[in-house]
Amino acid sequence: MTPLAELRGVEKRFGVLPALKGVSFAVQRGEVHCLLGDNGAGKSTLIKILAGVFPPDRGEYYFEGRPVFFRSPREAIQLGIATVYQDLALLPLMSVLRNFILGREPVKFLGILNLKEAEHKVRESLERLGVFLDDLHRPVGMLSGGQRQAVAIARAVHWGAKLLILDEPTSALGVRQASQVLEVIRRMKEVGVGVVFITHNPLHALEVGDRFTVLFQGESLGTFARGEIEEHELTRLMAGGRLRVER
Ligand SMILES: Nc1ncnc2c1ncn2[C@@H]1O[C@H](COP(=O)(O)OP(=O)(O)OP(=O)(O)O)[C@@H](O)[C@H]1O
Ligand SMILES: [Mg+2]
Repeated sequence: MTPLAELRGVEKRFGVLPALKGVSFAVQRGEVHCLLGDNGAGKSTLIKILAGVFPPDRGEYYFEGRPVFFRSPREAIQLGIATVYQDLALLPLMSVLRNFILGREPVKFLGILNLKEAEHKVRESLERLGVFLDDLHRPVGMLSGGQRQAVAIARAVHWGAKLLILDEPTSALGVRQASQVLEVIRRMKEVGVGVVFITHNPLHALEVGDRFTVLFQGESLGTFARGEIEEHELTRLMAGGRLRVER
């Protein structure tokens, strides 16, 4: 099956410092692919290449089977590649509803000018992902961190994201809020969206992931399917260790 997005042998350096040293990585539609690794491993660099923030120095990038060369994130967004960053996701003083419509011309908003109808569509989009909010006119800043992440994800899907990139969406959250976000990520599979889920937390990864790639100092230590790897093995790999102790 042609992957939704695929990187082959990607290299990226900042000055003399190599951040990625020939990494290959692929995401399928309807798959949650977790990207794990310690601080500085190259996770954010990898997803910035996926999101068109900067091009790789070397290597190839295919989206839906075609080679792509993004000159800006806007070009990636136009193809349906959405990124939700931990902090910059939404405007806190604006309502949930306005955040959804933000950046889109009202006329293009599903061809609707009627706010009541818009509200109905937005509510539908949220509830499809298991997010239930009683008042969409509340400012986003009054939501919990988990609800905010969920709204940002639902918004990206609402606008037709095919590939959803999540950079540490659960790291600042408590247990209950994190599990709410994990539930939304799980629903992405049903919607058919491909997800790249960056996390430091192997337990969060194992709860929702179909496959797991571990980066260490700019290199991939391998991609593993669900059931092939356990929590302590992911933890060991993230620290640069071998998968299994060799005798
Ligand atoms: N814009 C930049 N300029 C210079 N060096 C950078 C830049 N972005 C990343 N780096 C370096 O590249 C390496 C990989 O960084 P990256 O942010 O991809 O790691 P990460 O896995 O996302 O880490 P973290 O878990 O801390 O977010 C690090 O050594 C980092 O210092
Ligand atoms: Mg990072």
